[in-house]
Amino acid sequence: MKPYTIITIPDPVLRQTASEVARVDADVQAQMNAMLQTMYDAPGIGLAANQVGLLNRVLVMDLASRKEGEAPAPIFMANPQIIWESEEISVMEEGCLSIPEQYAEVERPASVRVKYVDFNNQEAELEANGLLSHCVQHEIDHLNGVLFIDYLSKLKKNMIIKRVEKMKKQEIL
Ligand code: NI
Repeated sequence: MKPYTIITIPDPVLRQTASEVARVDADVQAQMNAMLQTMYDAPGIGLAANQVGLLNRVLVMDLASRKEGEAPAPIFMANPQIIWESEEISVMEEGCLSIPEQYAEVERPASVRVKYVDFNNQEAELEANGLLSHCVQHEIDHLNGVLFIDYLSKLKKNMIIKRVEKMKKQEIL
């Protein structure tokens, strides 16, 4: 299984809307596994298809991977849909593998319930709060061409974009 290359801003694929998958078949499973490997290698806790240049509604997450020694606990989602969100708001620092080394506080619903199709093509639901809630909302945003910097002030957003451009120019990335 060959890992993918992670695409960074300002690549337009990050601004496109991904299409639903008809079903999670062997091809989609292979994509999910390769995305997970890519995410672990980065390392990150979430990755959406747009970030590897694919425009189907697939994402992977593993919050356990951020702690050393913890057993992997991957979550694979196809066609994720937020079916409920709390009125309560949560503010948490977010980063993104497509916006390297930049972090900012983002405000989101504190809890969400997500309906999706799992690795075995079964319908499933996840209720998420805390970091998992931020992560799943962040990844679903990717599938709609939305980035976490879109929630920031124009000033802060432009600052982050400029910093990444500069890093790319200096070929640090
Ligand atoms: Ni991201």
